[in-house]
Amino acid sequence: MARILVAFASGERHTELIAHHVASKLEDRRHITRLINLTAHEGEAGADDCDASIIAASIHRGSFALEVASFLMRHGPAVRSHVSAFLTVSLSAASHDETEIAAVQEIADRFLFEAGWQPEFVEHVAGAVYDRQLNVVERTILHSIMRQHETEPDQSGTTVLTDWERLDQFVGEFAAKL
Ligand SMILES: Cc1cc2nc3c(=O)[nH]c(=O)nc-3n(C[C@H](O)[C@H](O)[C@H](O)COP(=O)(O)O)c2cc1C
Repeated sequence: MARILVAFASGERHTELIAHHVASKLEDRRHITRLINLTAHEGEAGADDCDASIIAASIHRGSFALEVASFLMRHGPAVRSHVSAFLTVSLSAASHDETEIAAVQEIADRFLFEAGWQPEFVEHVAGAVYDRQLNVVERTILHSIMRQHETEPDQSGTTVLTDWERLDQFVGEFAAKL
């Protein structure tokens, strides 16, 4: 039984959903999790008393929220001292175009280099589009990107692209390292 920090930064709350899903799958495996919402500035409890860390962050306009870098500045030594994973969440991760996947990898690589963090796992997770949380310009752009990926936006206003099975597989791979 390990104590695992699951910290997340989320704009439209999809990464929050992903973080909760990951935590619940780890708890099913009898691990103890500590969920921290970095966007809500819940970053004071760190990773010192944890055995592993997972940090999940969405990409907006080519970057991660500043709170993620700031959390790593404060708690990097603890995160670097044990098994860790970085989950990036984006629309590009749903693309079949290798150059788009390479672009996400590059955004992650740059971020990790600047943070001086080399997690054992870097997982690019496809996100979601919640029309009601977007303004007209954002919605138009994101719908057009989805169409480029040959995905028609859902009529309900919520299009979830996350591969939950792959995420569960990641949890299994991560848990095997504990
Ligand atoms: C304003 C805005 C900018 C975005 N920029 C990017 C981007 O640069 N690259 C990308 O792949 N996805 C981009 N996305 C898609 C988000 O990463 C995706 O919707 C993700 O699920 C958001 O997760 P969150 O709700 O946790 O913030 C953007 C979404 C919004 C609303």
